[in-house]
Amino acid sequence: MEKEISQAVIRRMPRYYRYLNELLEAGVERISSNELSARMHVTASQIRQDLNNFGGFGQQGYGYNVQYLHDEIGNILGLNTTHNVIVIGVGNLGQAIANYMNFEKFGFRIVGLFDVNPALEGKEIRGIPVKMLEELPEFAKENRIDIAALTIPKENAETTAVMLASLGVHAIWNFAHVDLDNVDNMIVENVHLSDSLMRLSYSIANGNDN
Ligand code: NAI
Repeated sequence: MEKEISQAVIRRMPRYYRYLNELLEAGVERISSNELSARMHVTASQIRQDLNNFGGFGQQGYGYNVQYLHDEIGNILGLNTTHNVIVIGVGNLGQAIANYMNFEKFGFRIVGLFDVNPALEGKEIRGIPVKMLEELPEFAKENRIDIAALTIPKENAETTAVMLASLGVHAIWNFAHVDLDNVDNMIVENVHLSDSLMRLSYSIANGNDN
């Protein structure tokens, strides 16, 4: 891509993708930017501006072809390929993630579960057995791992990230309560549900009801 796309635009892309996916599932073949705007509560001009970053996709008087736009945004987000995901830390959150089927719809396939608690060894979630963390190096030799979801206490997050890098795993979906931004050679998406709750709290305090 020639032009640098702003992070703000990239952050909005999954939401476009999600809506377009819903439209496709509802059998909608094309949509005007005004209709899309009304559904998404984003201004039509914002939508046009965002999509113009990637060459537009729209046609004057026709609107957007939903399938085409969906697929193009999918390509931009790298969803045209399958991502193999492992979960490290199979407690409450790790199990919830492993149990959630819908990520597969977008090509994220859970291929391994790892923990340090021997009581969990062999427990199966959707047919995938929990393995001990010490088995990970061997597993990484035999399986392609694209993403590791880290659902472990924050104290163990950095050492685990460094170990993952040494095994050739270069992307972390990090739920541990620490921003893992300093690990060499690692792409990290930090997810903090509490940040989202605090934004909700702010909106309640400020009477924002959309
Ligand atoms: P949990 O205690 O139920 O599960 C943690 C699991 O990680 C346990 O099974 C433990 O044996 C395992 N573990 C610990 N160290 C490990 C290591 N080095 N390698 C592999 N496994 C290891 O905790 P829960 O509720 O599942 O939460 C997990 C983490 O996620 C916590 O740190 C929690 O604070 C955080 N969390 C983050 C949220 C977010 O929005 N980012 C939301 C909820 C929890």
